[in-house]
Amino acid sequence: MGGLEEGLRRAARLIEESSYLVAFTGAGISAESGIPTFRGAGGLWKKYRPEDLATPEAFARNPRLVWSWYKWRMNIVFSAKPNPAHRLLAVLEERGVLKAVITQNVDNLHRAAGSKRVIELHGSIRRVRCIACGFKEELREPPSEDLPKCPSCGSLLRPDVVWFGEPLPGEALEEAFREASRCDVMLVVGTSGVVEPAASIPVYAKAGGAALINVNPEPNAYTGIADVELRMKAVEFALKISRLLGIEV
Ligand code: OAD
Ligand code: ZN
Repeated sequence: MGGLEEGLRRAARLIEESSYLVAFTGAGISAESGIPTFRGAGGLWKKYRPEDLATPEAFARNPRLVWSWYKWRMNIVFSAKPNPAHRLLAVLEERGVLKAVITQNVDNLHRAAGSKRVIELHGSIRRVRCIACGFKEELREPPSEDLPKCPSCGSLLRPDVVWFGEPLPGEALEEAFREASRCDVMLVVGTSGVVEPAASIPVYAKAGGAALINVNPEPNAYTGIADVELRMKAVEFALKISRLLGIEV
């Protein structure tokens, strides 16, 4: 597999020589931590319909059903641990090489691995918010009630994640595009790249002159524009590139 080895060497060189490296991550980076992805083999959207579970209309129609699905996902996320790919990004930041992680994930594993500058585009499944007042709360475990209520006003609480049809948190989105325009290398790990507006971020970085490294076992939306295409899983990438970079993850 000379192609992969050569690709890894080129990726290592790009990372070493970068002056402003930014990572962009999706569900694939957490797959090997045991968290199901959305698309592809074993993906959540193969088994469930997003319009029944991840829209404001679905929640208004059947909050019990939506909550039971989110509590199931919360249980998985709360018992998941960061893997070497999350740790690689945290170590690169600690060394001053990586400036930010932009993530579509709601699992908080980047922070759990030690990343400090994490831009969460789709919210956090470890947080709830009230549908009526401004109340928000970080969770330490999934709620025990079938229908969790706001302690401040009694209305329904919902997971603090972005559902289909909802806008992304404005500040996070602006920050993400700012980082994309500043970076000279963007490391894209484990995303299909099909959910807008997040999917446009690597395209925007590339248009601004950044080199793209695309880590994914399958072809994705960036396959045609990536400067280095690495057809491998996130953990294999992390272990191999860290050896080339002389760091431990
Ligand atoms: P997807 O499920 O769409 O894509 C996951 C990607 O990870 C695919 O391209 C897989 O090939 C790849 N993958 C699978 N296993 C991997 C591994 N071990 N290492 C590296 N890559 C692997 O997930 P996202 O692109 O994150 O939105 O999906 C984007 C958004 O769609 C999510 O944030 C979510 C979903 O609906 C919201 O919740 C708003
Ligand atoms: Zn409230």
